[in-house]
Amino acid sequence: MNLKRGKTLRLGVIGTGWPGQQHARVMSAIPAAQLYACADVNEERRQLFEATYGPEKSFTDYRELLADPEVAAVMICLPNFLHFPASLAALEAGKHVFCEKPPTLNAAEMKVLHEEASKRELIYYFGRQFRFTPGMRAAKELIATGRLGRIYHAQATWVRSRGIPAGVGGWFTQKERSGGGALIDIGVHALDSAWYLMGTPQPVSVSAQVYRNFEHLVPAGLFDVEDAAYGFIRFEGGAVVSLETAWAGNLPDDIPQGQYFGRELNNSTVYGTKGTIRLKPLTLFEDQNGALTTIPIDLPDEADSFELQLRNFLDAITGSAPPINNGEQAVQLMEMLDAIYASSSLGREVPIA
Ligand SMILES: NC(=O)c1ccc[n+]([C@@H]2O[C@H](COP(=O)([O-])OP(=O)(O)OC[C@H]3O[C@@H](n4cnc5c(N)ncnc54)[C@H](O)[C@@H]3O)[C@@H](O)[C@H]2O)c1
Repeated sequence: MNLKRGKTLRLGVIGTGWPGQQHARVMSAIPAAQLYACADVNEERRQLFEATYGPEKSFTDYRELLADPEVAAVMICLPNFLHFPASLAALEAGKHVFCEKPPTLNAAEMKVLHEEASKRELIYYFGRQFRFTPGMRAAKELIATGRLGRIYHAQATWVRSRGIPAGVGGWFTQKERSGGGALIDIGVHALDSAWYLMGTPQPVSVSAQVYRNFEHLVPAGLFDVEDAAYGFIRFEGGAVVSLETAWAGNLPDDIPQGQYFGRELNNSTVYGTKGTIRLKPLTLFEDQNGALTTIPIDLPDEADSFELQLRNFLDAITGSAPPINNGEQAVQLMEMLDAIYASSSLGREVPIA
């Protein structure tokens, strides 16, 4: 499909749960985007989505949506195990692909998608709205000025005391359908936030351990994934990330009570030779004439991160801006997750090729 600047792009949302609804919600604010179609096997969800967001067409089978020549791009919001087959089918049908996190179940799948998209000159884009929050954008800008000096360490954290998700049919805790637990679900967000702030350096090796300690918190059903992961990742140039993620844990009371998942901490701190930046609340800590000074940073605006992300996806399709959440980085992100699982099962540090 030949897409020129200024043309309205017809989009299809595949999977109408919470993320699918967020993408549909922000489409109405973007004149260049039209919510054209949706697909979901769950009749009730699909009907609610249709009634709320009013797509022109609605399908049970996403393959029918992909066969519609009017669809320029799809937003894939399916359970993790369907990310690869649905993204590949969409690329093969000539559609640009936006796929929710995690990009795929592993790096091998993601490499296939990246190659397929490149070969067909289509955009592959992975869902990571947290790259577009006001705090993240302001932090990125400040880091770009060189204010932190040389970055040598980042702390990536997303931990909950009681926050094991289920999803429709309980797929989040079933390895075959999720690819993993806390790491691939929320750890991927935490790791990507820190990695993005550091400037996405090339990962070199990983030492990590994952655990399943809290299956008794989930009433019934299969639970064969980790509920916590701890990792140490080395990058080219010598910087490291310490990653800590958990769906469940007996967290101490200095971690604040969240709205849904008990005590919860979701933050990134990036350390440099001249200064350190913490994402939430956005604060710079720097040496000013020998005194370590705390500098709160105002957020630039309250723009919606889902909307900015979608705008960047559309700009990438029309060629007006490079894709921020690009396929190459999706491959590297999946390589880091693969290496964390491999290191844990081998009980030693593993290289990333
Ligand atoms: N970006 C974010 O912050 C964020 C937040 C939540 C979830 N997610 C991601 O979004 C994806 C979906 O998560 P969720 O919480 O909405 O899960 P969910 O189980 O609530 O929803 C998945 C939807 O996909 C539909 N579906 C399943 N198989 C289908 C098929 N073959 N064809 C069509 N529809 C099908 C289900 O009926 C359901 O409506 C996951 O990959 C998750 O990691 C991202």
